[in-house]
Amino acid sequence: MRIAGYLLVIFLQLSWPALAGIGAQGTGEFADHWRPDPMHEYWDPGAHHRPETERVAGVFTGEECLECHAAITPGIVKDWRTSRHALADKPVLCPACHGEDHQKLIFPTPQTCGACHPQRLAQMEEEKKYGFPSHALAMERAVDAKHFADKPKAEVTSCLQCHSVATKCDSCHTRHRFDAAEARRPEACITCHSGPPHPDDETFFNSAHGRKYRLEGKNWAWNNPLKKGNYPAPTCAYCHMRDGNHQVADKAVWKFGIREINPTSAENKIKRKRWMELCADCHPNEIGETFFQALDSERSTAWQQLYNVEKILKKLRSDTLLSPSASERPPYPMEWLATVWPKERIGFYEGQASAFYNVSAIERDYFEMWYFSNLGAYKGMAHGAGEMAKKFHERMDAEARAIGVEAERLRHTKKEGVDWKALWMRGEYTEFNRDHN
Ligand code: HEC
Ligand code: HEC
Ligand code: HEC
Ligand code: HEC
Ligand code: HEC
Ligand code: HEC
Ligand code: HEC
Ligand code: HEC
Repeated sequence: MRIAGYLLVIFLQLSWPALAGIGAQGTGEFADHWRPDPMHEYWDPGAHHRPETERVAGVFTGEECLECHAAITPGIVKDWRTSRHALADKPVLCPACHGEDHQKLIFPTPQTCGACHPQRLAQMEEEKKYGFPSHALAMERAVDAKHFADKPKAEVTSCLQCHSVATKCDSCHTRHRFDAAEARRPEACITCHSGPPHPDDETFFNSAHGRKYRLEGKNWAWNNPLKKGNYPAPTCAYCHMRDGNHQVADKAVWKFGIREINPTSAENKIKRKRWMELCADCHPNEIGETFFQALDSERSTAWQQLYNVEKILKKLRSDTLLSPSASERPPYPMEWLATVWPKERIGFYEGQASAFYNVSAIERDYFEMWYFSNLGAYKGMAHGAGEMAKKFHERMDAEARAIGVEAERLRHTKKEGVDWKALWMRGEYTEFNRDHN
């Protein structure tokens, strides 16, 4: 294992000579606080790709690229040969995306693709007007998150694997086949849309629509565009990229689900109408109406409960019962205000970015309730997986009770005059461990 590890390191150093050792900089608000890893060359090529200059020099025609790469990277050439790019009347050869000078090769950005697919690029760009979350803004959203510059490198590097959806066009139709049929399937989305804060995969697969897809999907004609009449049941892209529109935000009312919103605002009413029109591809209007009423009412219940728990935490804060308190935790880099005015962060109320890292146990408990259970319940409802929504609400109930009990315990220890510092320095935990190690 260890030898394999060394070999990997040597391989990485050989493979990315351009990045190794040079003072490459990060991007975004905290650019000075992080450095790109070799993988960032792929995830944000516009910012981090450095052409490889050592091995092959020369300016080549498309045919020459193909000839040499058929031996060097046969998989790439094979995929390209079966792609629409190869089969087009005027084939889209390697230099169209990479350039023809081997010492100045580029990795394509959305703008590179947009030169030939302007409508798709424009649709993705248009998404920005709906704000966060958004595919078009995903990269800046990740690198501008305060914890991005503060958490262990191994954890934050992986953020960009998903948030790179903004900076390259091969997330859903992968290179080098660039196959629209691949992008229409839920599997194209769930590489990123999975995991506790966004269990879109599980909730969809547990819905009536998802069950139908799992049973019959392999026989559907995926070469057909995402249009009314072409598919017996909807999938992620059918619902969120209506008619193949390359943006996912024009219907989003509850968005990520991390804060309460008013679903009946003028703007949201328009978005809801778009949802209803979509459901009407296959259902009578009542189905959509009932469905969205149930979603809004579930959300309102969840938020009532979250606010009640936030109240408990805010009271603990004002009674100085949170330990460590904000002044006992290191502030985030560049957050100069926090060095003079440290503040605990509780829920969305005071900013999402910091609510789960460097916090006291009870704050973390609330984070888990708000970020995992609440978001799971929301997606369960939004995707028609009623059983899952119910399960997540049971979890929220249990978590709310446990937070209440813990808050009482904290009050009690204060009443008894327990010395917190002493508890850590000489308390049961420390001394017990020393005696038993
Ligand atoms: C004489 C052989 C040869 C020719 C001709 C050639 N390449 Fe390469 N290419 C290579 C080799 C060798 C590598 C390095 C492979 C590796 O790192 O594993 C490479 C790497 C690449 C990479 C990856 C660069 C990176 O930063 O990782 C791209 C993209 C590429 N070539 C595109 C092209 C294009 C486009 C053409 C035609 C304009 C072309 N190649 C012509 C041999 C060739
Ligand atoms: C339609 C655009 C397009 C065309 C045409 C194209 N590529 Fe690529 N290529 C890409 C994209 C996108 C990437 C991924 C870059 C990234 O991850 O940021 C890539 C990556 C690569 C890489 C890096 C290795 C890897 O991990 O995949 C090589 C090598 C490569 N291409 C070679 C070729 C060769 C050879 C051809 C011609 C047969 C070719 N490409 C044609 C878009 C294209
Ligand atoms: C030089 C122009 C050009 C560039 C650059 C280009 N494409 Fe294309 N693309 C085409 C053409 C031409 C077709 C074939 C259209 C047809 O067959 O009707 C096509 C087809 C496609 C398809 C449809 C495949 C299908 O299954 O129907 C996808 C997806 C695609 N391109 C994605 C991309 C992406 C992503 C990039 C950038 C990495 C890119 N293209 C760069 C010209 C280009
Ligand atoms: C490479 C990873 C990746 C892939 C693949 C991907 N997404 Fe996303 N998606 C993201 C990220 C990251 C965000 C959140 C961005 C942010 O922080 O603003 C997001 C956000 C969204 C949103 C929220 C928009 C809003 O306004 O609330 C929807 C809907 C969505 N994606 C649907 C899809 C669908 C449908 C697919 C498949 C066709 C897909 N995504 C494929 C990474 C991905
Ligand atoms: C497995 C893929 C994945 C990884 C890894 C990932 N994200 Fe995300 N992230 C997403 C998706 C998908 C969404 C949007 C979900 C939705 O809208 O329901 C999202 C949403 C977000 C949002 C909320 C956007 C908003 O405005 O509401 C932020 C901020 C964010 N991610 C930052 C990060 C950071 C920082 C990391 C690394 C610590 C990270 N993400 C790791 C996929 C991922
Ligand atoms: C979130 C997933 C996702 C991302 C990111 C994405 N696509 Fe697509 N793409 C799809 C889906 C789904 C289809 C099939 C649409 C349909 O059925 O009409 C598609 C189809 C296409 C097609 C062929 C269909 C057509 O008529 O145009 C092109 C070209 C294309 N995409 C280009 C791009 C470009 C350029 C980008 C980057 C700006 C991009 N895509 C990013 C999901 C995506
Ligand atoms: C039947 C249509 C449908 C299908 C299929 C579907 N969704 Fe959704 N999705 C919704 C609805 C409705 C919402 C809640 C929207 C709202 O509040 O406006 C939602 C919410 C979301 C959100 C939060 C952002 C937003 O748009 O509000 C993301 C991200 C998301 N879905 C991703 C996915 C992914 C990934 C898949 C496939 C695994 C999928 N969805 C399948 C209908 C669908
Ligand atoms: C492309 C067609 C299609 C679209 C679009 C569609 N559905 Fe469905 N829906 C179906 C089919 C087919 C079933 C029955 C699945 C089964 O059980 O076999 C179904 C079932 C349902 C059910 C019954 C679930 C159950 O447990 O019996 C509800 C509720 C529902 N859909 C809501 C919606 C909503 C809300 C939308 C819009 C956001 C929507 N559907 C969009 C095809 C569609």
